[in-house]
Amino acid sequence: KILILDFGSQYTQLIARAVREANVYCEIVPYHKPVVKDDTLKGIILSGSPFSVNDEKAPVVDVELLTKSLPVLGICYGAQLTAKQLGGRVEKSEKREYGRAMLHKQKEDVLLDGISDKSQVWMSHGDSILALPDGFEVMAVTDSIPVAAFRATGGYANPLYGLQFHPEVYHSTEGKKIIKNFLTAICGCKAEWTPASFVHETVASLKQQIGNRKVIMALSGGVDSTVAATLIHKAIGKNLFGIFVDNGLLRKDEFQQVLDTYNTIGLNVTGVDAREHFYTKLAGKSNPEEKRKIIGGTFIEVFDREAHKIEGVELLGQGTIYPDVIESVSVHGPSVTIKSHHNVGGLPDTMKLELVEPLRYLFKDEVRRVGAELGIPADLLNRHPFPGPGLAIRILGEVTEEKVDLLQRADAIFINGLKEHGLYDKVWQAGAILLPVQSVGVMGDERTYEFTLALRAVTSVDGMTADWAHLPYEFLAHISNEIINKVRGINRVVYDISSKPPATIEWE
Ligand code: XMP
Repeated sequence: KILILDFGSQYTQLIARAVREANVYCEIVPYHKPVVKDDTLKGIILSGSPFSVNDEKAPVVDVELLTKSLPVLGICYGAQLTAKQLGGRVEKSEKREYGRAMLHKQKEDVLLDGISDKSQVWMSHGDSILALPDGFEVMAVTDSIPVAAFRATGGYANPLYGLQFHPEVYHSTEGKKIIKNFLTAICGCKAEWTPASFVHETVASLKQQIGNRKVIMALSGGVDSTVAATLIHKAIGKNLFGIFVDNGLLRKDEFQQVLDTYNTIGLNVTGVDAREHFYTKLAGKSNPEEKRKIIGGTFIEVFDREAHKIEGVELLGQGTIYPDVIESVSVHGPSVTIKSHHNVGGLPDTMKLELVEPLRYLFKDEVRRVGAELGIPADLLNRHPFPGPGLAIRILGEVTEEKVDLLQRADAIFINGLKEHGLYDKVWQAGAILLPVQSVGVMGDERTYEFTLALRAVTSVDGMTADWAHLPYEFLAHISNEIINKVRGINRVVYDISSKPPATIEWE
C-alpha cells in the first residue's frame, strides 16, 4: 500500500488513480494524520497544494521523520516542502510556470528509467526551488527552472525524491511511467491490486464482517448499487435482501429489465410496485425542489416499510464510492471537511443499521472493472447516469401518469436510436424532457395542439461541466420524425444546444 498525504491540491485524486492504474493499492489521507507504519505500507507520496511553502500558514509534515521509515516522493508543493525543510531555498520565481514544459534529463536514475531525454511534463507552480539542500542532486531541469526533479544522495535511511512537475496529469506524457518506477523499483510494491484480487479480498472480508447476519439494500439499477450488491451476494448469498422500488418515474420497461438482470446475476431482490403511491404524493406539485423532496421522502417511507417485513436485519448495504468519502483538505485553512453521501436518497433515521460499503475505496472506473470481473452484463455497467428522482425532473411542472407514459415512449425512441446508431457510448448522458408548452401543428388535414419535447445529450467527464453533444443532423431528423409519428401528444421536437455552465444537464 502507498499513502498519499494530501496538502489540498486539485490533482490529489489523479495521483491516487495513477497509482491504482499501476495495480498498486493506495489511500489519500489529510497531511496532518499521523502515518502509522505497518508491513503493508511501502511508501509515501506528498501531494501538491494551493499554498506556498513560505506562507505562514503553510501545511507541513516532518519529511525527515517520514524518510526514516519509508521511501518518499514529493510532487510540486511536496517537493518544495522537502527541499525547504532540509536546508534548500524555495522562492517566488520571476518566471512562473503553468502548463506544458520540456523536461531535460541530467542523470540516469531508477525513477526516470525509460523516460526520454526530452519529455513533456505539466507544470503549475509560482515558487521554484533555487537551491537544493546539501547531499541532494538535480536529476532533470526545464528551460525555465534549474530543479525539475531531484533526489537525496545519501544520509537518509530511505530513498527521497522530489518532482516539480505533475506526473499524475494526462499532459505529462511519461508521468505514469515515473509513478510506476517509484512504486515498483523504489518502494518494492508488486502490481497485485487487480479487479480479481479486489473481488477475492473483499468477499473474504465481507464474510468476516457480516457472518450469518442479514443485510438489506436498496437497489436502483445503477452501476454502483449493482456491483456492491453482487459482491455482498457473493459473500453471503441469500442473506442479502435487495429492494428495488418502481417509483413510476423510471424509463420505459426499465423496472422489468433491471429485475431480469438481477435474476440472471442471482441476486435475491424484491421488486416493489409503488407507482400509485408516488403519483398520489406528486399530484398538484410543480416546484422542482418540492418534487425532489417528496420523491426522496416517499422512497424512504416505502423502503422502511419493506425493510420491516424482513425479520432480524442488522446491516444496510450501500454503493458508496471513494470520491464520496475522501477526506479533503480545505483550501481555506487547515480544517478538514468530510463529504458524506448516500446513494439512494438518504437513510431513514429510524433504522440504526451497521453499514456495509464494499466499494468505499474504489473510483468509478474501478467499479466498472470489478463489475466486469463479476460477470455483470456490459450494458448495465455502461449505462448513462440517471437521476434519483427520475423522469419527474424531466417533466417540467406537474407530474401525471399520462405525462410519464408520453415521456417514456419518446425517451425510449431517442435512447434506442442512440444505441442503434452507435452513438450511445459516445455521449455521457442523454434523455428527453417534456415541456409544459403546447403549440400548433398540422397532421394530414388536421390541426393539432400538442406538447413539445426537448432532446438533451451531453459529453462530459464527471457531470460538473458538460457540452451539448454534436449529434449528426440526419440522426436528429430521424429521431424527431419517429417521435412525432409514433407518440401521439407530441407534435414538435427541439434539441438543446446549451453547455453547462451556464445551463445544467437536467432542466429542473
Ligand atoms: P445537473 O442538472 O445539475 O446534473 O447539471 C448533473 C448530474 O446530476 C444528475 N442529477 C441528479 N441526480 N438526484 C440525482 O440522483 C438529483 O436530484 C439530480 N439532479 C441532477 C444529472 O442527471 C446529471 O447526471
